[in-house]
Amino acid sequence: MQADIQSVLIDRAAIAQRLDQMSRQIVADLHGAADLTLVPILTGSIIFVSDLIRRIPLKMRIRVMSVTSYPGTATTSRGAAVEAALDKVPQSLAGQHVLVVDDILDSGGTLRLVVDTLRRRGPADLRTCVLLRKQIPSAVATPVDYVAFDIPDHFVVGYGLDYDDYYRNLPDICTLRPEVVRAGS
Ligand code: IMP
Ligand code: MG
Repeated sequence: MQADIQSVLIDRAAIAQRLDQMSRQIVADLHGAADLTLVPILTGSIIFVSDLIRRIPLKMRIRVMSVTSYPGTATTSRGAAVEAALDKVPQSLAGQHVLVVDDILDSGGTLRLVVDTLRRRGPADLRTCVLLRKQIPSAVATPVDYVAFDIPDHFVVGYGLDYDDYYRNLPDICTLRPEVVRAGS
């Protein structure tokens, strides 16, 4: 696996430091929320959300949702769709303060779909949080409340992000050698 890495874009120490800061901001903003529900978007947010929630000492529920947009070896979005079987968010969110957590903002299709879907369930408040945002117009134009890192328009893996479902377990955020991506596409 290490041989497939081209470079480390953001290392584990930088991630930890930024999560310390970002979680303090989230706690300051949400400490008054009586009924807090976190909605991690599977599968890419699993590492991020597990590190984030242990820094947020507020009473919360976790309700996962799964959205597919980059099937298999695709490295560009093919359009987002909620997977009904993996939508564990209640149909009514009345009175709930919701924080959606996703790995990366790219075309923005995933976050827009999730926000539209959840708004229809009537939450008291709906916020969004992403680990990474690519510096491309579609991502920058997508409303989001918390962004840990802005990154160049590179395809990245690690810390939950995948290529063909591999590399999620890399502790740092990395780029892959071009021949690895080409060989799989
Ligand atoms: P969007 O819907 O185009 O904003 O893309 C969001 C989803 O695409 C993310 O949740 C990821 O699953 C996937 N994705 C986008 N860019 C990357 C990347 O650079 N590496 C790995 N997955 C990515
Ligand atoms: Mg994802």
